Amino acid sequence: MEARNLKITGLTELSAGHYLVELENSFSTMPLPGQFVHIKVPPFFLRRPFSIAGGDAEKIRVLFRVAGEGTRALSCMEPGDELNVIGPLGTPFPVREEWKKAFIVAGGTGAAPLLFLSSRLLSEGREALFFYGAREAGHIMFRLLPPGVDFIFTTQDGSYGEKGLVTGPFEKMLRDGLLPDVIYAGGPHGLLKNVAGLSASYRVPAFVTLENRMACGTGLCYGCVTKIRSGDGWDYRRVCKDGPVFDAADIEWEES
Ligand SMILES: Cc1cc2nc3c(=O)[nH]c(=O)nc-3n(C[C@H](O)[C@H](O)[C@H](O)COP(=O)(O)OP(=O)(O)OC[C@H]3O[C@@H](n4cnc5c(N)ncnc54)[C@H](O)[C@@H]3O)c2cc1C
Ligand code: FES
Repeated sequence: MEARNLKITGLTELSAGHYLVELENSFSTMPLPGQFVHIKVPPFFLRRPFSIAGGDAEKIRVLFRVAGEGTRALSCMEPGDELNVIGPLGTPFPVREEWKKAFIVAGGTGAAPLLFLSSRLLSEGREALFFYGAREAGHIMFRLLPPGVDFIFTTQDGSYGEKGLVTGPFEKMLRDGLLPDVIYAGGPHGLLKNVAGLSASYRVPAFVTLENRMACGTGLCYGCVTKIRSGDGWDYRRVCKDGPVFDAADIEWEES
């Protein structure tokens, strides 16, 4: 974990309220899919956490939706401006040698770290089927999947892909016996809980990324905790430090 002033090398509005910001990467470690950065957006005191949507030794990409004042201020910055960034933070998605085929399930901006993950899986010659769901066809994530990734799209209003929730075709695939070696998911709480239930029913390991509200982002304040099963009971774990990626089977879903 390092704090650095990173120069903005690109800031593009991809669709209404959705932006891609590209930062010069001067961290000494390479970012991994699942990790995030904690960005100080002037003039705000509290940093804002964002998943790393892509990157390498030269750059870090973040995809964000304007959700409030901090993200609105970020969207008004310009190439050449500098941002104070702490990162890369948190645990990456685990990738094991024997996991050759992955299902990726995502909703809304929760897809950002999974775009990065799917690029990595493809570059390693693994198979990835990306299930992505949004409310309507205009969502930018539909246009950002790396070339070569197989996908199934859904919209709630039926304006693009299959009509309904993304868990519909995902569950059907599992029911038809087309089981992957591993499942990765990101998005709203209900989606993640549903994926966790299906992964348990079909006995496929699943890893989800959580987006709890954060303050310090570095494990000090315990402001982001979630309940994780431990022995016969449970324990509090920090989403920023012990996560944000967790084994779906460990999460106390009723409580979190
Ligand atoms: C690990 C992680 C990864 C994330 N990745 C992305 C991403 O890739 N793209 C994206 O668009 N959004 C992402 N978010 C959500 C993003 O952090 C919030 O949308 C953003 O902080 C909202 O800030 P704001 O000032 O615009 O909104 P406000 O609502 O004005 O924020 C006020 C305060 O609440 C905190 N806050 C608000 N919403 C969230 C939230 N959902 N999660 C954590 N803190 C929040 C802010 O940090 C700030 O301190 C991620 C959140 C986490 C925890
Ligand atoms: S935000 Fe402070 S411990 Fe996680």
